[in-house]
Amino acid sequence: MVQIPYLCRMEILPVALQAYLDDHCDPEPEALQKLNRETHIKVLRPHMLSGHYQGRLLSFLSKMVAPKRILEIGTYTGYSAICLAEGLAEGGILHTIEVNHEMEEIINSHFKLTNVENKIKLHFGQAEAVIADLQEDVFDLVFIDADKKNNFVYFQLVFDKVRSGGLIIIDNVLWKGKVYGPEKDADTEGIRKLNDHIAVDSRVEKIILPVRDGLLVIRKK
Ligand SMILES: C[S@@+](CC[C@H](N)C(=O)[O-])C[C@H]1O[C@@H](n2cnc3c(N)ncnc32)[C@H](O)[C@@H]1O
Repeated sequence: MVQIPYLCRMEILPVALQAYLDDHCDPEPEALQKLNRETHIKVLRPHMLSGHYQGRLLSFLSKMVAPKRILEIGTYTGYSAICLAEGLAEGGILHTIEVNHEMEEIINSHFKLTNVENKIKLHFGQAEAVIADLQEDVFDLVFIDADKKNNFVYFQLVFDKVRSGGLIIIDNVLWKGKVYGPEKDADTEGIRKLNDHIAVDSRVEKIILPVRDGLLVIRKK
């Protein structure tokens, strides 16, 4: 496979270790390799895409939960939505929310190519407004991966909609190490606020996985 040069590296692990991990998990499915490559060629900020290793982890976690309903906040080009949809139970549905309409063509074409278009409902708009309008009121799995300064807002908005035993997964919680450094910008503060809240929230079990830019996996008790 042609290697794609990563202009902006998101992984926190050393390159050689990440390569070893990539080589020792399931291969990236061909259709996702195509989406990964097309995103890198055609779309701004391709480092936002979950990618091979994190994508396989999302698929794995989703298969363990076998969710009937998934909510994703932050679709981008649809990579993580396709990974999460791999674990949907028969008849299950994934709702994904994206604010940027320019993504519509690439998202829909790859949902078709991977035969998930009937399992995924794509919503365009500000996540807060879309979540308020959603008809579904119970989710088995939620993936939060949009504007980081609003992580806490999204967590609070979805918490009551997640069933007991369900998962909330939040991406980029280590924010390239800024969360444990002196930075005070809005995104870093938003991520830090949620991480600190979750750490002492007795309603949930939680663990930060040092995968890529940090993946916080939360299980509602
Ligand atoms: C990190 S990317 C998502 C990557 C994707 N989940 C993946 O792993 O392939 C974040 C996306 O959230 C979208 N976004 C940012 N703010 C948003 C908002 N307020 N409501 C909905 N989507 C938003 C951005 O346009 C961007 O496409």
